[in-house]
Amino acid sequence: MRQHIPIPHDRLLYADCYVKMHTSFLSDRIKRKLRGIYMKLHKADHVRGEITVPGDKSISHRSVMFGSIAKGTTEIHNFLEGADCLSTIGCFRRMGIDIENKNGVVTVHGKGMHGLAAPAETLDCGNSGTTTRLISGILAPQNFDVTLTGDESIQKRPMKRIIEPLSMMGADIKSVRGNDCAPLRICGKPLAGIHYTSKVASAQVKSSILLAGLYADGLTSITEPQVSRNHTELMLKFFGAELESKGTTVTIWPATELFGNRIDVPGDISSSVYFVAAGLILPNSEVLIKNVGINPTRAGLIKVCEAMGADLTLLNEDHENAEPTADLLVRTSSLRGCVIEGDIIPTLIDELPTIAMMACFAEGTTVIRDAAELKVKESNRIAIMVENLRAMGADVEETEDGMIIHGGKPLHGAVVDSHKDHRIAMTFAVAALAADGETEIIDADCVDISYPAFYEELENLQNSKRPESIWYFSRDGFGFFL
Ligand code: S3P
Repeated sequence: MRQHIPIPHDRLLYADCYVKMHTSFLSDRIKRKLRGIYMKLHKADHVRGEITVPGDKSISHRSVMFGSIAKGTTEIHNFLEGADCLSTIGCFRRMGIDIENKNGVVTVHGKGMHGLAAPAETLDCGNSGTTTRLISGILAPQNFDVTLTGDESIQKRPMKRIIEPLSMMGADIKSVRGNDCAPLRICGKPLAGIHYTSKVASAQVKSSILLAGLYADGLTSITEPQVSRNHTELMLKFFGAELESKGTTVTIWPATELFGNRIDVPGDISSSVYFVAAGLILPNSEVLIKNVGINPTRAGLIKVCEAMGADLTLLNEDHENAEPTADLLVRTSSLRGCVIEGDIIPTLIDELPTIAMMACFAEGTTVIRDAAELKVKESNRIAIMVENLRAMGADVEETEDGMIIHGGKPLHGAVVDSHKDHRIAMTFAVAALAADGETEIIDADCVDISYPAFYEELENLQNSKRPESIWYFSRDGFGFFL
């Protein structure tokens, strides 16, 4: 039976501060546990100010993985130090790769494509689907055997989607319990190139196959139903691999060597969505989110904001390596419902829970369809969003492949269960700021997966003042907002 301790605070109740003040004698582990249980939030007047979100999760994972199998050093700036990406570092360290993490810079001393060593123990991928699926593509062609596993959630996520294509390439990869989930046992074997047509638009599946293809005999290609995020293609090219993308098909040539490089990781658009949503739905709000990755295969959020009538402006467009970036300026807006379906879905898959929450504050109905993939993420994000939004008073229907949200009904505070899914916890922290009364998030500390400082940053934006002016440059010249 979970027991709740009421802690007084008039706005966002950031229990960690309480824990710091009154429990300094406790160990960090116990303090974090307390924060996980007691997170209560209240309605906020506004959010205002400037924020830099942490580095992109997908790009951070890839920079460690590709750096490890490249020759030379890969220096990663703005690496995301969330639990998921630390799981990736842990796996490669166990395979003999020297990875330093000092002063915000991660340095990977790559040992080349054949430099990984057999790990002494099972590799622990934690909560990370990206680690599990991408690393499988790298491990299948090695000359050693390995077992991969992860937490309770990872052991329920579908792995057949990589087992099938990798096996077609000649890999010996088996689900240890025979349920097509982790733990996976991979016995290294030489691979042959294939052409694979995937039923799902998944960058994790595509990347797993492309990484195996680097080591295969002959060309490897994959066709997806829609284009999924292309960070693997961009970064592998940057490291010297030969690839070609045509429509929904990507082809890779076998490689003899990759070359380490400096990577500057842009801010994660999937972490920016919480502040975009807060800035749009709270009154008197204005938030500038600096240096966000806006790769078109990830930036469906921007199109949806436009369709919903949001006041969102892109400033200072630039790029980091091959990845486009911009500052996002959002202001309080009267939103309207819209339909989100088809090719745009893979470009905003991780933002959909937050978009669904935003839709509760829009005039009219929002329909999300073609998003069945949400059911096999860190949690069943369709069922859990519907359950939690309903608990807060929203009018939402669950469908086979999405949700229908009838906006305009005010939300009230409730107890919501994150189901240890970081994106659910962060979405409801924002919903809580716009809802009447008190909201309690269960297992709120799961935000550590992708955004350890999330609650502090959200609180800072409630306390800070609107910036005096915001200077920017765009294709049309210089300017500033007052
Ligand atoms: C990711 C791809 C997406 C996304 C996940 C990260 C990646 O998953 O949901 O958070 O880094 O490749 P799918 O490719 O399975 O859709």
